[in-house]
Amino acid sequence: MNSIRKAVFPAAGMGTRFLPATKAQPKEMLPLVDKPIIQYGVEEAVESGLDQIIIVTGRGKRAIEDHFDISFELESILAKKGDEDTLSEVRRISDLGTIYYIRQKEPLGLGHAVLVTRDLVGDEPFAVLLSDDLIYADVPCLRQMIEVYERYQCSVVAVERIPRERISGYGVIDARPIEDRIYRIDDLVEKPTPEKAPSDLAVVGRYILTPEIFDALAKVKPGKGGEIQLTDALRWLLKHQVIYAYEFEGTRYDAGTTLGFLKASVEYALRREDIGQEFGDYLRNLAPSTHQSPDTPGD
Ligand code: UTP
Repeated sequence: MNSIRKAVFPAAGMGTRFLPATKAQPKEMLPLVDKPIIQYGVEEAVESGLDQIIIVTGRGKRAIEDHFDISFELESILAKKGDEDTLSEVRRISDLGTIYYIRQKEPLGLGHAVLVTRDLVGDEPFAVLLSDDLIYADVPCLRQMIEVYERYQCSVVAVERIPRERISGYGVIDARPIEDRIYRIDDLVEKPTPEKAPSDLAVVGRYILTPEIFDALAKVKPGKGGEIQLTDALRWLLKHQVIYAYEFEGTRYDAGTTLGFLKASVEYALRREDIGQEFGDYLRNLAPSTHQSPDTPGD
């Protein structure tokens, strides 16, 4: 059995960077090519062997629940039309593991969103995935991280090298290399200036956490706007437990910003068997000198 069974998806944020698209629909439901962004994350968790998905929702997020639910009307219409391919795709979505929903009544931060899952997660290690961070990889990023967890039995956070000039948008680790791609974290700094950044290794939206993180989240003081930060809880946990960072293999797209979302859309479309070729031809005709191949890192 997988050592990690549960995946938490905090999805209760306001998505202000994506207004007006997110005024009346959840950011997590924006379609990347033709699939809502959160489905990519749920599929990554399922492909990594996790079968219990916990989605933290809030006001205005009902579409997420409907998406992963069975749609009898839709299925019967597709069956009548004899559209077997679409029917099996629609059924596959509602078969993606067992999904639990819990509401975060107020958007009091990512840390708070994780804290509300405490009773559902219980006393076992679990994964947290931020679906905005889309990771394209041969071996799913979470699967790679589970292998690190299984070797060290400690919390593992995913990190990526970020050019200094962009580092101030991230949580950054102060760490020592242990082996290829694995670091032992000494400290974490949230959004440092390039001069103050302890490294160029930034934390991205994949975590494997030991259940003690809940004690940490319950103890840390809310920061600005009353928000409870996951980084603060990780710093608290560091005083009691070893935490590792893992530089994953794959390409990450920050689909929480408009530019990152556009880059991800283009590259995922180019990789598609059905439309990739034609879309690539279209792009080449449109801007021959600026076309990038899908293997060029996103972000
Ligand atoms: P972000 O910082 O991306 O915030 O949250 P956001 O609200 O989604 O987007 P912007 O910044 O307003 O554009 C990181 C993750 O944490 C979740 C978000 O849904 C996102 O997946 N989150 C954030 C919560 O679940 N609850 C919160 O109170 C805050």
